[in-house]
Amino acid sequence: MIWNLGSINADNFYQLPHLPAPGETLAAIEFDQGLGGKGANMSVAAARAGARVIHIGAVGSDGTWALERLLEYGVDTPHITVVDVPTGHANICVDANGENSIVLFGGANQVLSEQMIGAALTEASPGDILLMQNETSGQVYAAETAKTLGLHVTYAAAPFDARAISAILDQIDVLVLNAVEADQLRADTGHALSDLPVRDIVVTLGAEGCKWVSNTAKSEIFYPAYPVDPVDTTGAGDTFTGYLVAALDRGMNMADAIDLASKAGALMVTRHGTADVIPDLKEIEDHDFST
Ligand code: RIB
Repeated sequence: MIWNLGSINADNFYQLPHLPAPGETLAAIEFDQGLGGKGANMSVAAARAGARVIHIGAVGSDGTWALERLLEYGVDTPHITVVDVPTGHANICVDANGENSIVLFGGANQVLSEQMIGAALTEASPGDILLMQNETSGQVYAAETAKTLGLHVTYAAAPFDARAISAILDQIDVLVLNAVEADQLRADTGHALSDLPVRDIVVTLGAEGCKWVSNTAKSEIFYPAYPVDPVDTTGAGDTFTGYLVAALDRGMNMADAIDLASKAGALMVTRHGTADVIPDLKEIEDHDFST
């Protein structure tokens, strides 16, 4: 079972010829809205990968649609609280090459209390997974409580904040981060990834693939990506992480879990949108990744 302390956002997508420069006013070619937030994206991805996921989060009274949509996508929602603060949102600019730039408003994601998180985690069992990203309040309390209760902690270090990750580094079992974030972590801690007190570290390398650093086996293995024509990279990393966690929760070994997650992430970059368009297992099975 996966307990995901995660953000829930309304995503506003602006399709643009290029990302705006400072001082530039730019007309969008297209505009769309959907469900997002790194947390919600990971919950949906893990549910679509066949895992039981209980989302721990918060929305404002303007965000009950998001709660209903998560439920529709197979995510358990009793630990999503409706609070007196507006739902988080993200304004996402996507350029012609599928690259993005995102402005975040945390809103309800930042008022998650220890009481809300504790009420959820007391229902967890030893061996369950606590998944987190850096878009909510309460991460230190959640990580400490989860470890006390015998859960495994997986952390996606995005958006990267050296202080946020340092505060929970000792509690993390599986860390997922991209190459830029890995460099920032090295610079901040002064340690190589192989010297961190984290069992498994997966570094995503975009179109190149990913690298698994096992600090128990003392090994570092590279996995190439599946080639695709990207139209929008938004949410691909979240899809990768959600699938990875779901696969590990199902007892897959790391190599097989990375393979499944890489396929899900590859398919995701061929789609516009975030949580609403995350592929399910059947779509991954039906897709020909050899071309
Ligand atoms: O990783 C993509 C996500 O980042 C978007 O869904 C947006 O809401 C932001 O949280």
